[in-house]
Formats: sequence, structure tokens, C-alpha cells
Amino acid sequence: MELIKVKDYNEMSKRACSFIIEKVNNMEKPVLGLATGSTPEGLYQNLIEKYQKQEVTFDHVQTFNLDEYVGLKKDDPNSYDYYMNEKLFKHIGIPREQTHLPSGDAADLSQEALQYESLIQEAGNIDVQILGLGLNGHIGFNEPGTQFSSRTHIVQLDESTRNANARFFPTIEDVPKQAITMGIDTIMQSKMIVLLVSGEKKANALSQLIDGEVTEAFPASILQTHSNVMIIADQAACSKL
Ligand code: F6R
Repeated sequence: MELIKVKDYNEMSKRACSFIIEKVNNMEKPVLGLATGSTPEGLYQNLIEKYQKQEVTFDHVQTFNLDEYVGLKKDDPNSYDYYMNEKLFKHIGIPREQTHLPSGDAADLSQEALQYESLIQEAGNIDVQILGLGLNGHIGFNEPGTQFSSRTHIVQLDESTRNANARFFPTIEDVPKQAITMGIDTIMQSKMIVLLVSGEKKANALSQLIDGEVTEAFPASILQTHSNVMIIADQAACSKL
């Protein structure tokens, strides 16, 4: 794993943006894996600015998001589909049919999970997967205890994760209890992984990810075994290293 230490959130976002643009501009058919949450918002804002300055285009790009809440419709303002559209897709001229998220309101969720896996494989797997880091070590919505061999599946969200995400919902009761997420093995099949980590509250998790043992009790620890991982972390997140 390569660790790039940067000053703060802005620098982390800029650094990630330059890296993605370089890939997108130099690849014929790049396949990007995307995340939601607070961490990549700055990256997406930077990508929008670069698109507006005509330094990058996305019409040849396909994207696959990590996860989606179960039970929310695509147009629900708390769905990840809505988030991606508002914070990135609608601003960068990418054909919407080239963007993929698992559907959290599919009638048959197991079938949806299988289909999502097939779509990723048909695209030739993900070239660069962007990840954020959960306080409990989750990646995607793979909570502690998830098998490293897991593929896209339905998960029960940890109370700690529901609490951490409650800030986006009117009350904690409104936070869904389930999600559909790429599995750990799905994520590990990405050719490259870029993990973004910012803020002091992530410092323990980052230290455990880098120096702790590889264990299903801390899902992100599996990244130690991937051959091409770049971590871009700010000073506050690195404070326990
Ligand atoms: C989001 C995702 C999650 C987040 C993680 C960190 O699609 O898969 O694993 O990356 O919960 O969230 P933030 O960035 O809000 O701290």
C-alpha cells in the first residue's frame, strides 16, 4: 500500500482528482468504482470544476457505485442514486446509462445482487475503485464480520453505521436498516484502489488498517493484501500512525 500524506481535506480531494483525471484522459474505456458519504464530496466538486474548464470529459467512462440503501426509491433525496446524480453525474455530461448503482428497491434483491456482479464483470472489472473508510473499518457497507470472500449482497447495517449516517436523515428511525453492497471480494477484484481518509475521527481506523492484523473483524484490513492500493490521507487522519 502506498500512503500519500497531505495537509488537509482540500488537498486530499485535489490529489485524488488529478489522479482520476489522468486515468480518465489516458484510458480508452475507464471503469470507475465510486463511493458516497462525506469523504468523496470534495473530489466530485473538483471533477466538476475540471469538466467545466474542459480539462476532462466522461462520455467514454463507466461507473459502478459501491452500495445503496434498501427500501429507498432512486428519487428519494437520501438514496445514493440521488446523491450521485446531484453531486456528480448531472454536472459532468456522463450518459446516465453508463452509471450504475445497485437498486435498493428491486423486487428481488438477491437477483439484483447477482445482476450487479455480472454487469461489473461484463465491463471488464473496475479499473480504479474509490473508497472511504468507516469508523468500524467497513468498506462499502461490509460491516465487521463480513466474509472476505463475499460478493455483492444484502447487509444489515450496524447501529454504529446507522448512527454515523443519521446526520443525513430527519431522525435515526428514518435511516434504513439494510443495504445492498459490493462484497469484499468484488472490491478486491478492482485493478486499483484509491482510499480517501480525512479527519481526526478516522485516525484510529486508519492506524488499524495500516498496522493491524488482517481480519474479517476489521474489513478494511484486507486492503493490506491488494497489490495496488493508494491511500490519500490528511494530517489529522494520520495522527495515530
Ligand atoms: C459509501 C460507503 C461507505 C463510506 C464510509 C465512510 O458509499 O460505501 O463505506 O465510504 O461509511 O463515510 P464518510 O465518507 O461519510 O465518512
